Amino acid sequence: MKGSAKVIEVLNDVLTAEITAINQYFVHAKMCENWGYQLLYEDTEERAVEEMKHAEKLIERILYLEGIPIVTKIEKINIGSTVEAQVNNDHGLEKIAIQRFNSAIKLCNDESDAGSRELLEHILLDEEKHADDLEAYLQEIKDMGVQNFLVTQVHKKEKS
Ligand SMILES: [Fe+2]
Ligand SMILES: [Fe+2]
Repeated sequence: MKGSAKVIEVLNDVLTAEITAINQYFVHAKMCENWGYQLLYEDTEERAVEEMKHAEKLIERILYLEGIPIVTKIEKINIGSTVEAQVNNDHGLEKIAIQRFNSAIKLCNDESDAGSRELLEHILLDEEKHADDLEAYLQEIKDMGVQNFLVTQVHKKEKS
């Protein structure tokens, strides 16, 4: 089905943001794994995988609308050199994503593309959850201090 050029363009913009997030989160996840913060590693990697699923859905939708998915573009990646910086940078990315999704949803409404709107609304809820999870980390860091917070993220392997 031939889609609106404006919708295809906005879906590609959102796709670029997802690809950026995938890369930032994977690097952060691997840094946490390297530092031994197993729980943060697992959580951040899971978030990266969710962004990958978003990218997959967006590519499918762009193809359905007979557009060309652009997977070669990427925005600035902000790697944090500490856990606190990583959480702040990831939270910043999610906040921008939420704004972007909301304006993309508005555009889909203007272009009478309810299918694309519904997909974006679905993904938006995931991004809100991501932002919420990161806000909880920031609150914990603020309340208990970063050192105490990091203690909660080290998962010692059970001795067998
Ligand atoms: Fe996403
Ligand atoms: Fe996200």
